[in-house]
Amino acid sequence: MAAVAAVVSSLVGSSSSPVFTKLHTCPILRLFIAAPPPSFRRLRMAHTLIPHASLGLTKPSASAIPEIAFSAKETDFSEWKGDILAVAVSEKDMSKDSNSKFENTILRRLDNQLGGLLGEASAEEDFTGKAGQSTILRLPGLGFRRLGLIGLGQCKPSTTTTTYKGLGEAIASAAKAAQASNVAIVLASSEGISSDTKLHTASAIASGTVLGVYEDNRFKSESKKPLLKSVDIIGLGTGPELENKLKYAVDVCSGVILGKELVNAPPNVLTPGVMAAEASGIAAEFSDVLTATILDADQCKELKMGSYLGVAAASANPPHFIHICYKPLNGQVKAKLAIVGKGLTFDSGGYNIKTGPGCMIELMKFDMGGSAAALGAAKAIGQIKPPGVEVHFIVAACENMISGTGMRPGDIVTASNGKTIEVNNTDAEGRLTLADALVYACKEGAEKIVDLATLTGACIVALGPDIAGVFTPSDELAREIFAASDITGEKFWRMPLEESYWESMKSGVADMVNTGGRQGGAITAALFLKQFVDEKVQWLHIDMAGPVWNDKKRSATGFGVSTLVEWVLKNSS
Ligand code: BES
Ligand code: MN
Ligand code: ZN
Repeated sequence: MAAVAAVVSSLVGSSSSPVFTKLHTCPILRLFIAAPPPSFRRLRMAHTLIPHASLGLTKPSASAIPEIAFSAKETDFSEWKGDILAVAVSEKDMSKDSNSKFENTILRRLDNQLGGLLGEASAEEDFTGKAGQSTILRLPGLGFRRLGLIGLGQCKPSTTTTTYKGLGEAIASAAKAAQASNVAIVLASSEGISSDTKLHTASAIASGTVLGVYEDNRFKSESKKPLLKSVDIIGLGTGPELENKLKYAVDVCSGVILGKELVNAPPNVLTPGVMAAEASGIAAEFSDVLTATILDADQCKELKMGSYLGVAAASANPPHFIHICYKPLNGQVKAKLAIVGKGLTFDSGGYNIKTGPGCMIELMKFDMGGSAAALGAAKAIGQIKPPGVEVHFIVAACENMISGTGMRPGDIVTASNGKTIEVNNTDAEGRLTLADALVYACKEGAEKIVDLATLTGACIVALGPDIAGVFTPSDELAREIFAASDITGEKFWRMPLEESYWESMKSGVADMVNTGGRQGGAITAALFLKQFVDEKVQWLHIDMAGPVWNDKKRSATGFGVSTLVEWVLKNSS
């Protein structure tokens, strides 16, 4: 077929008749889009078929999800053979008796085996077991090439997930530094831990290790492959329950990694169309439980999504409304959930363009962090297949750009529930897209809706970069999300939905404006969203503008995925 060549010439104005346009899109998928009938082609070509995904000629290389075999063992650690034996120690474990011998039995045994070297080396390096401390000793002549000591700090029960994820990350960096391909991990004090805690501990170690090993090198011209192939977890039990838990941890990690990759992808590569193709790809991969429906602009127009389409109107990359549906294998459903994610693949601000220092316009590719969390969770749920629960993953994906066709400050748009909105600021676009997505979720019959959005700079001012704001009229749903986050270690803080602040959102000419004043900006944004949710539906909004991004690592965090998956599991039976 001469199709591809033909399209190229038609884009520059010749009269040949293309059949297919080949778009090099996401790392996994290559998307083929049928061209419109010849009479439409000239008009619509520029807006729908130019492969903007290749702007700048960037093509990501395939993503490299670490493939690490985790095994739970109850063998004697001193007989283990491999590259690194890592011992996790708390500050208390490092204490010594009056003869300067370790009180901890595991450390004492190792120290005896090494003729006192462990005590000497840890003292020389001032290793006291503080969180984040680690030291690796080279030990020729033993079954393992290196012995690692990794600090757990004071090990308070309230911080266990974070502590053991941190342990996994420390194992990953030790393995990278020593070019190790197999590692064993043993806790210096594991007696007295309940079997439930052992499961959680092992799974937190596994997630920390996978996410620590993972590097997003898709956009670098050279990259090293991760070497770590196996991790033996010693002393935290064995058996099918633990193995399932480890598999669950790895499944969630694959969702977190997808979430990170979607956010890290630059906006010239990850356009709304490419995000939709990714969503279809996830559904195709787990087609026993997932289906994807993608609506184009015309279909959204039929559904009267004027608020969403207003935001998308300036962009040469057309909007794509994404709906992935999870149904359990046996078809029986007790709870119907929806997860709605803000999906702005780029937010320039529109006519209220983002200017000035600190506006972070160059980082506004992360404005689809909510949708990345939703798609990451969909991928994990597609693998875990929880029973008794139906989940709708919904994203109104688009770009907030500037052009002659774009929305003006002062325009009035009409959302799909009939409410009218005077757009007094085009940079408050996320809530406009979420409005139609929330109406859609309610129409799908969702009983509980959680939305996630990088919605306001005000929420970062309130809670700083690491904590997401939670807004909900439902104490029950708040409890569910906080119970989930206790397990995952992601940080959330409940904020008030102060109804009296709605005063600032009133319009003289429409039902509402889209921005109140500067004060309480995260609250008025949440109150705006509330206008688009049926009163009988339980709804919770997460403003994740801060935690979507890690400034120090210059990278996405994958925030939200693990807590969403945990929440879905709490609602399964
Ligand atoms: N995507 C931004 C919110 C944002 C800002 C996230 C900075 C992360 C870092 C959102 O669309 C936005 O622009 N919000 C405005 C709202 C304002 C116009 C009422 C904001 O926060 O400044
Ligand atoms: Mn904005
Ligand atoms: Zn935005």
